[in-house]
Parts: sequence; structure tokens; C-alpha cells
Amino acid sequence: MYEYRKSENVNALMEMAYFSFAAKRSVQELIKRFIDYALSSGTEIDCVYDSNKLVAAYLLYPFQIRFRNSMIPMGGIGMVCSRPDYRGKGTIRFMLEKSIETMRDKGMIVSMLYPFNVSFYRKYGWELFFRKKLVFLYPDLLIAKENPSITAEYLKFQMKPVKSFTMNTRGKNTTWL
Ligand SMILES: CC(C)(COP(=O)(O)OP(=O)(O)OC[C@H]1O[C@@H](n2cnc3c(N)ncnc32)[C@H](O)[C@@H]1OP(=O)(O)O)[C@@H](O)C(=O)NCCC(=O)NCCS
Repeated sequence: MYEYRKSENVNALMEMAYFSFAAKRSVQELIKRFIDYALSSGTEIDCVYDSNKLVAAYLLYPFQIRFRNSMIPMGGIGMVCSRPDYRGKGTIRFMLEKSIETMRDKGMIVSMLYPFNVSFYRKYGWELFFRKKLVFLYPDLLIAKENPSITAEYLKFQMKPVKSFTMNTRGKNTTWL
């Protein structure tokens, strides 16, 4: 009978994860530091136990994402793995179904992960989506090296996001529209 619960046992997770993700010895310390940092920022380790043996685990990251005009709580899922001698025994199915209850309890109404296999996660409810990234930059945040072939001048009016500009770097002119 499997039991699902939160764990503080980083070493037990790491032992299983190093093997599962074939982490070379040279990167193990780095991964451990990454996990320690994540745990100090509210990430938790949720696990499946068989009696007192850790047999599967994942990391649950408490993120916020922008959705339309709101910020909403999002559960990030990472480091999903099971013990090699427990593979194919339903521990991950059990764990991911429980993970959805955990996220719901925490008010995380969206969950995201980076799948190693789309059909694997699809059966638990995750679906592919396309990413749109919006980056707002003010030109005065851009630091560029001086280029003698470009003439630049300050605008005489207050700086607002410049809608568009063209630069003619072939000649000596820079034109701001
Ligand atoms: C992938 C992994 C987590 C599956 O664990 P498991 O203990 O075999 O999982 P379960 O026994 O609960 O099986 C869950 C389902 O996934 C399926 N499954 C298992 N491995 C799979 C794979 N590599 N690809 C696609 N589906 C897989 C099983 O058939 C089962 O489906 P079913 O419930 O419809 O029969 C495990 O093999 C592992 O730790 N791998 C190394 C780490 C890794 O790749 N993690 C994924 C990170 S995104």
C-alpha cells in the first residue's frame, strides 16, 4: 500500500534522482545546491513511500504566472522519478494523481512542466500549449558600444516607448521615426 506525503529528506531524493537522470558525479553537487536553493524558496518534495522506503518523488515549485491580466498561482513540477526496482508498479501514476490534489489544496489552479514524453503526462491531464513571450524594453535600458559609423542624438521630447525606428548604418545617418 503506497503512501503519499511531503518529505524533507533531500538525500533520499537525490540518491534516486542521480540514478534516474544519470547525473554525472561532476554535476551532482551543482544539482544538490540547486535543490537546496529551491527548497529555501518554498519548493517542496512530495513523495511516495512503500512502508518507510522512498519509492517515487517530484519537486513542486510555487510559481506565479501572468494569465491574461492577472497573476495566478502555478504549480511547477520537476524531477519526477521512481526507484528502478519500483518502475512499472504504478507509483508515478499514484503520485501524479495525488499531486493534482496537492496543487488544488494550495490554490494552484494551473500546473506546468517540461515533459520528457508528451503522451506520458497527457493521460494525467497536462496538455501541450504554445508559448508567447512578451518583453517590454525601453530603449534607454539598452547598453550598446559606441559605433563611429552611427550618429545618435537625444530626442527633444520626453522618452516614451519608441514605436519603431530604423537605422541606416550603411551611411552616416540614423533616423528615428
Ligand atoms: C518515467 C518514470 C518516472 C516512470 O515511472 P514508473 O514507476 O514506471 O511509473 P508507473 O509504473 O506509475 O507508470 C505510469 C505510466 O507511465 C507509463 N510509462 C512508464 N515509463 C514510460 C516511458 N518511458 N514513456 C512513456 N510512458 C511510460 C506506464 O506504462 C504507465 O502507464 P499506464 O498507467 O497507462 O499503464 C521512471 O521510469 C523514471 O523515473 N525514469 C527516469 C527519470 C525520468 O525520465 N523522469 C521523467 C522526467 S519528465
